[in-house]
Amino acid sequence: MTDDSDLTARVQDSFDPERTDPRLRELLVPLVQHLHDYAREVRLTHAEWEQMIDFLTRTGQACDDLRQEFVLLSDVLGLSMLVEQLEADAAPGGTPQTVLGPFHLVESPPREQGDDISAGVPGERALVTGRVLSVTGEPVAGALVDAWQSDTDGNYDVQRESDEIGQGRGLFTTGDDGSFRFVTVVPSDYPIPTDGPVGELLAATGRHPNRPAHIHFQVVAPGFALLTTHLFVAGSVYLDSDAVFAATPDLVEEFVPDDDAEQAARNGLSTPFPHARIELVLTPEHARAS
Ligand code: BEZ
Ligand code: FE
Repeated sequence: MTDDSDLTARVQDSFDPERTDPRLRELLVPLVQHLHDYAREVRLTHAEWEQMIDFLTRTGQACDDLRQEFVLLSDVLGLSMLVEQLEADAAPGGTPQTVLGPFHLVESPPREQGDDISAGVPGERALVTGRVLSVTGEPVAGALVDAWQSDTDGNYDVQRESDEIGQGRGLFTTGDDGSFRFVTVVPSDYPIPTDGPVGELLAATGRHPNRPAHIHFQVVAPGFALLTTHLFVAGSVYLDSDAVFAATPDLVEEFVPDDDAEQAARNGLSTPFPHARIELVLTPEHARAS
């Protein structure tokens, strides 16, 4: 075997400590170490290296303004969720951060409390009520809660070309008690895009592309770190095998039948209606690594 054992160190030493940003060097030196160790460990062949370069090239070529195949690759390899978890370690106590996903494409329409965000799509109406809280349990008033979800067939508005953009989306401002509420349909599970290189990878490894049914949330409030998270629907089939590894037990909520006539009347529903409750806990802005 002709393995230049010096090669790894020589590449690492080529990043001049005097002329390289210290953090960049801290990122690059272990990257070279792990890449070289990997190639040695699996005895990477030239043909396999070429195949990998071709895969990454096509991944880049599949990206455009609306599609980010590299982020999708990071998602299915669990790297996106690992980065979220590492960030969360710096800010304990908050609602778990998850991937943003590719369907936060448009700004959600501002809505009033109790609005029906599903805007006419078929399906049984359900109520989502929530509170935005600080890690010390105080309500966060005036927080912007952006919610977006698929319909009961697993499609987002941007995937149903004929429909009005904004269906399944709503931007709410929390009240003095940190609360928000909206009417919607219970979303369905759906597959991530599989018509690109990431789909090939899933097919080649016997993996399904599905995500458990969920509602996305993003919360912005002054003095707090941006929260990007999900509510996963209890009982959804893919809770244990989310294609992007974002589903965790902490984020699963049940839509339970609710008989509360006052709540039904206030939200234009009839009893019993499915009702999911969620608490979104924000960490202080400075606590999370930037
Ligand atoms: C989604 O939830 O919409 C999603 C998230 C990550 C990758 C693909 C889709
Ligand atoms: Fe989604």
